[in-house]
Amino acid sequence: MRLSYNRSVMERTLAIIKPDAVKSGVTGKILARIEANGFQIRAMRMIHMSKAEAEGFYYVHKARPFFGALTDFMSSGPCVVMCLESDGAIRKWRHQMGATDPAKAEAGTLRKDFGASIDNNATHGSDAPETASFELGYFFRGMEL
Ligand code: CMP
Repeated sequence: MRLSYNRSVMERTLAIIKPDAVKSGVTGKILARIEANGFQIRAMRMIHMSKAEAEGFYYVHKARPFFGALTDFMSSGPCVVMCLESDGAIRKWRHQMGATDPAKAEAGTLRKDFGASIDNNATHGSDAPETASFELGYFFRGMEL
């Protein structure tokens, strides 16, 4: 008997609409583009992180020179955290966001359209399955997903 298998890999990733994008009133536009791109939003919440919570989320960057500015910015106002699901969600969301530095992002990406600088770059996404697992668990309990 031949075994058939499904090659598509349903995946989940953590997405953030950062404080700059929330403040400038483009949350709805970004959500519409996420849905138009075929993601299911499995969980979503608006939060305002404390400095300590932002430091915990970005702890992998704690030795980087931009850590202080990054965590000041991420705790400067509300942001929207989401669990996005699709086939290959991690790569797909990173592609939709574009390069970390909006000046280097491709046309049509979210960071090109809504980001102002590498610090104020509108969105965040997990970069690997292990990171997605940690980042989703940071904001959502299992029963919310
Ligand atoms: P993000 O995808 O949220 O991950 C870490 C963030 O640090 C990144 O987006 C940028 O907003 C910010 N950052 C600031 N300077 C740098 C840098 N030189 N390299 C990478 N990320 C940076």
